[in-house]
Amino acid sequence: MKKALTTLACALVSSWAVAQNQLTISTSSENVIIDKHIYGHFAEHLGRCIYDGIYVGEKNTKIPNQKGIRNDLVDALKKLKIPNLRWPGGCFADTYHWKDGIGPKGKRPSMVNTWWGGVTEDNSFGTHDFLDLCERLGAEPYLAGNVGSGTVQELTEWVQYVNFEGKSPMSNLRQENGRAKPWNVKYWGVGNEAWGCGGNMKPEYYANEYRKYATFMPDGNGAKLFRIASGANSADYNWTEVLMRDIPHELLAGVALHHYSVTNWQKKGPSTEFDEKQYFGTMKQALFMEELVQKHSAIMDKYDPKKKVALVVDEWGGWYEVEPGTNPGFLYQQNTIRDAMIAGVTLNIFHNHADRIRMANLAQVVNVLQSVILTKGEKMILTPTYHVMEMYNVHQDATLLPVQLKSNDYNFESDKLKAVSASASKNKSGLTHVSLVNIDPKKEQDIIVDLKGMNLETVSGRILSSGKLQDYNTFENPNKIHPVAFNGASLSGNQLKVKLPPASVVVLELK
Ligand code: AHR
Repeated sequence: MKKALTTLACALVSSWAVAQNQLTISTSSENVIIDKHIYGHFAEHLGRCIYDGIYVGEKNTKIPNQKGIRNDLVDALKKLKIPNLRWPGGCFADTYHWKDGIGPKGKRPSMVNTWWGGVTEDNSFGTHDFLDLCERLGAEPYLAGNVGSGTVQELTEWVQYVNFEGKSPMSNLRQENGRAKPWNVKYWGVGNEAWGCGGNMKPEYYANEYRKYATFMPDGNGAKLFRIASGANSADYNWTEVLMRDIPHELLAGVALHHYSVTNWQKKGPSTEFDEKQYFGTMKQALFMEELVQKHSAIMDKYDPKKKVALVVDEWGGWYEVEPGTNPGFLYQQNTIRDAMIAGVTLNIFHNHADRIRMANLAQVVNVLQSVILTKGEKMILTPTYHVMEMYNVHQDATLLPVQLKSNDYNFESDKLKAVSASASKNKSGLTHVSLVNIDPKKEQDIIVDLKGMNLETVSGRILSSGKLQDYNTFENPNKIHPVAFNGASLSGNQLKVKLPPASVVVLELK
């Protein structure tokens, strides 16, 4: 018996001894805060995101709603602690004329949504509906202004309509439409993807347009607007360079960046029936965010060494072929454990660069691309991505704890990626949280975490994983994937040992 125990102990020791994953967490000296706005979402007039997603209409008697906005969705988003919501696009923003979406609903003009399916938009969901939704959610609105097909006057008036307290033609109009107090919208995008659907502009031209538009967007009520420039398409570093160089920084609070985890734009692959090659490619694109952030930040550092201008990743996530039988222009896709991996590693990257990334928006919130929520009539499901965003929200507004990670490789064919991704923070109540992801779909990962100087005594946690990468929640089986208690971590002195199952996301709490 004694011999058997000794053999077992030796086997355990040697299995940990060969573990190559090592994580060191340091107490921060720099006091970088993980801005809660990194956890933002995005709602575009696209497919079933607004109509038949968020908004089911005031006359809907089947789906419980308040002023047409479904209640179950509001409750679910509140649980996520959604900090901000971007609207009305995306590409749609540069075709949107906000005055079409105010006043009596029956009298609003319609338009054709040229970017997304060519459907007729009746403008029944407009500025009041969106800003009231944000109030219900306790989220900051982030309005994307129309630069591509709008005018300076139109955007100036939108700012006045929603923000001006005193008497003016626009604030009077707002009051006539039933809203006495301004909403005080702080976050404003000056166009969207100006290099593409927002006008196919060159960066120098857009920088000049930005200067003009931003000048006439009035600060007000004692609050300064947070103006965000339409940013680069993934690795277009010249775009960031020109904007940082040519736009006066007092007019510029943020520069955006868009990056989707797509391997081949011509052949994006299915959302659920993918193979390991496609999975590996998606992970490679998701992890490429690290290089993007480093390189765009280095350019920003050159012009803004004090990091006053934020990098705002206001579109990110996975993008696949639409679900069979759905409108190709509606971008409706299912959401699997692969998406949970994208969310976990991306948020870790954002945390670890929280000194520069102070806002981000997952595309999109419901029924479009990497959604946190899917709806079908009266039914609503939470996706694996939702669960990751919920598990991770303990990091919102916490102090970043810098990590150093030595990870095993996840090998596929002749290529490799780091298997483990990590980030850590300490919140105002003194709790430390560590987020860990193992993207390897076949191998578990043993991690030794060095917590020197942190005096921690207990560990608990939750895990999100499933039998297969391709697993997802359905309207018939909505809880197949959900977080459960995690028992794979043990703390002894300054050392934490964690065993991460294949393709899993874990959030630990230490105190
Ligand atoms: O999120 C879908 C689209 O992707 C947005 O409208 C656009 O900004 C981007 O190209």
